[in-house]
Amino acid sequence: MSDTEIGPPIALVTGANKGIGLETVRRLVDQGFRVYLGARSAERGQPAADSVKAQFLQLDVTSDDSVQQAVAFIQKEHGHLDVLVNNAGIGGPRREPQDYTANDMATVLMTNVVGYMRLIHACLPLLEKSSNPRVVNVSSGLGSFALFHDLDRIESRAGTVPYAASKAAINMMTARLARLLPHIHINAADLGQTSTELSGNQGHSIQDGTDAIVHFALAGPDGPSGTYADRTGELPW
Ligand SMILES: NC(=O)c1ccc[n+]([C@@H]2O[C@H](COP(=O)([O-])OP(=O)(O)OC[C@H]3O[C@@H](n4cnc5c(N)ncnc54)[C@H](OP(=O)(O)O)[C@@H]3O)[C@@H](O)[C@H]2O)c1
Repeated sequence: MSDTEIGPPIALVTGANKGIGLETVRRLVDQGFRVYLGARSAERGQPAADSVKAQFLQLDVTSDDSVQQAVAFIQKEHGHLDVLVNNAGIGGPRREPQDYTANDMATVLMTNVVGYMRLIHACLPLLEKSSNPRVVNVSSGLGSFALFHDLDRIESRAGTVPYAASKAAINMMTARLARLLPHIHINAADLGQTSTELSGNQGHSIQDGTDAIVHFALAGPDGPSGTYADRTGELPW
């Protein structure tokens, strides 16, 4: 434990005013973490944080200023960060294949991929002060080439072009960064289809959907890095 690590472990979850993010915050609070619930709107974020005894932090993953201010606040309060959960994501539009535009792709990548990189870059100095730094990138089975080519799997049929491309990019970002930053444990979680607004309320429970995220967030110093898993275990990339 470093000099700055006194008290409970510190976690930051992005896009956490509802859905997967909010449930992840609730479960980490239950595990004794001090959790910062990142949300772009105070109107939605503050009551969500109050409901799970977390600390609201205004955080729009598409804004450098917003992310820098949020990270500066954690720096001032704690001097380190133990767990970053990159969760904020959008589904993007659903169109006929010939109707997808460059703008559709840019919009989805800006939140789902560029936003994750922005958070990792901004949080790295704080993560490096933790004795067990972990990054959980919320991915999807839709980002797996192997699952896409398995015609028995729903991933071979479901999802949109920009969204699946964004999750594939998250997977490669995870694998590369984990290898290049061996002192930080960086993993990608597939949730399986989970009943939230993003999935049109289709799929398994939000408890099931957050299992893989919580598993990676609670891992000890000997835990995995550079892996991709759902609640049942490792997945093929
Ligand atoms: N549900 C599934 O079946 C499923 C499966 C695999 C992976 N995932 C992934 O799980 C993550 C969470 O999705 P969900 O199902 O919980 O969806 P959701 O209910 O739609 O929640 C998405 C969250 O992200 C936030 N968000 C969007 N853009 C943001 C931005 N620029 N800055 C900060 N927050 C932002 C939203 O905030 P607002 O309320 O302000 O919009 C909301 O809190 C996503 O990465 C998604 O791709 C979901």
